[in-house]
Amino acid sequence: MKVLVATEKPFAKAAVDGIRKIVEGAGFELVLCEKYTDVQQFYTAVADVDALIVRSDKVTKEVIDHAKNLKIVVRAGAGYDNLDLAACTERGIVAMNTPGQNSNAVAELAIGMAIYMYRNQFTPGTGHELLGKKLGVHAYGNVGRHVARIAKGMGMEIYGYCRHKETIEKDGIKALASAEELYSTCDIISLHLPANKDTAASINFELLNRMPKNGMVINTARKEVIDEAGLAKMLAEREDFMYASDIMPANHAELAEKFGKRYFATPKKQGAETAEANINAGLASATQIVKFLKEGDRTFQVNK
Ligand code: 3PG
Repeated sequence: MKVLVATEKPFAKAAVDGIRKIVEGAGFELVLCEKYTDVQQFYTAVADVDALIVRSDKVTKEVIDHAKNLKIVVRAGAGYDNLDLAACTERGIVAMNTPGQNSNAVAELAIGMAIYMYRNQFTPGTGHELLGKKLGVHAYGNVGRHVARIAKGMGMEIYGYCRHKETIEKDGIKALASAEELYSTCDIISLHLPANKDTAASINFELLNRMPKNGMVINTARKEVIDEAGLAKMLAEREDFMYASDIMPANHAELAEKFGKRYFATPKKQGAETAEANINAGLASATQIVKFLKEGDRTFQVNK
């Protein structure tokens, strides 16, 4: 059996070494297609493999069509909006993610970005402190939980909003009844929504404009959840408002030019870019593949 790691943004070497150990230890062959620059390279690499590990790489219907032997694809990470689940299901391919494996890395970046923005992007000027500020965790999953844990240590007052109120309350955090209430209450909002048809462009001007003076949104989730025109309007109309994102919006050039230090986006998604996160998610992916191919274990399947 052949296992392909196809990563335009490659894993740390230690993660690839660990994946190799697991895959070869199970008697399978590991194939690498790293830092590919053309989707044709991905199509060629996937042609005869049984299993596939990706990061944010798009596993489209075209990729699936080229992968004649594919039985399982694992997204080494949380968000699986890059997998065409319908195309996988149609071909009987099992799709999985590795929930929780890179979430601390993303959470640390979210808090780091909040400090970076509050401190004028580390340029001269008077900033703010996190101590005593109200933090709103929008969608309380694995990343949101880590953000809340770190923020608690920094003396922030934490609020959460998501569909599963009980998971927030179980951690001793105040769950608010609506997104509207969260935005009206909190100085800083940390976004952790997945990208799907329900969340697309859901963070709009109406919601953002509820934020108190000096409100700030940190987006380490997905660009699709932001209504980009609404964001531009908010930055233009509210000169106190700040936005930082780990995923460049389509109107990045305009926002960077117009709003200076109140706006920031990383050039390439950095959230899970730590050796620790690569190792956790990469090794979990390899283990899940071996367990599926050897024992039929479907834990973490997302296309049920
Ligand atoms: C995730 O959903 O796990 C993160 O967005 C990480 O994405 P990456 O593996 O492309 O860095």
